[in-house]
Amino acid sequence: MDTKVRSIEPLRAERERLFGHAEHSGVEVVDSIGLTDTAVFSRRVVTLEEERRERERILPAGGVLGVTGGAYKMLRTQVLRRLKELGANTLAVLSTSNGEGKTLTAINLAIAIAADPSHTALLVDLDLRNPSVHRRLGFEPELGVEDCVERRRSVHEAMVKVAGYDRLTILPARERVEMSSELVATQRMADVVQELRLRYMNRIVIFDLPPVLLADDALAFAPLVQAGLFVVAEGQTVRDEITRSMELLRELMIIGTVLNRSADGAGAYY
Ligand SMILES: Nc1ncnc2c1ncn2[C@@H]1O[C@H](COP(=O)(O)OP(=O)(O)OP(=O)(O)O)[C@@H](O)[C@H]1O
Ligand SMILES: [Mg+2]
Repeated sequence: MDTKVRSIEPLRAERERLFGHAEHSGVEVVDSIGLTDTAVFSRRVVTLEEERRERERILPAGGVLGVTGGAYKMLRTQVLRRLKELGANTLAVLSTSNGEGKTLTAINLAIAIAADPSHTALLVDLDLRNPSVHRRLGFEPELGVEDCVERRRSVHEAMVKVAGYDRLTILPARERVEMSSELVATQRMADVVQELRLRYMNRIVIFDLPPVLLADDALAFAPLVQAGLFVVAEGQTVRDEITRSMELLRELMIIGTVLNRSADGAGAYY
């Protein structure tokens, strides 16, 4: 029997069976008092070449137009609504296996959120087994999040802005880290996440992570993040593996699932 995902309805029922309603999530309330994330720090600014942007399917700055942009705009709206209901501003982008579209979804969701004038977005590359956000965007990080955790470098030194993408900040990872799941579970990692989360009240922090079933990083990091978004690749993700991943991540509030590589367009959210 073909167990690959073809439709989202049974998945929705499964997610609701496993997770129920938001009020049972035990999610912390954001209590920060900050201003906005648009203050000009002397951050490094990188340029995303147009040709690369199109090849990598990355949304243009402010670009929530067109079929693809519209799908991400809808995703943004749903995600912001759910995060607001939860009083949360940190979100992990997850999937069972590799190549299902986590990194692309994380990048485009961050761009779509940053296109909303009332929010800023910080995208953190926490796939320390295979950091790829910087490769997609076409730059070499001088410092990475791993340097902030392991070597106590300031997160502001490591942050990068992409020219033209106002209100979007990237905290890249520089290189593959051995024992990455141990690193993401350290107190220092918790302190870094707390610093990122509480600095600005209108900031949404998105974490790109390795596959749930191929490494224990996502599980190790889950207690530090308030919500998860699950990416499913149509015709690729195996249904039983979604159930297994969600059971492993039982403690994390999964706010929705994105159907990526959908025949209907860029993706669907439920
Ligand atoms: N909807 C899509 N349409 C076309 N190509 C896509 C789509 N989603 C992702 N891809 C491409 O598939 C490849 C894998 O996507 P991506 O890197 O986002 O997956 P991932 O889940 O982060 O993988 P990994 O677990 O290896 O980090 C990339 O080259 C990406 O551009
Ligand atoms: Mg990835």
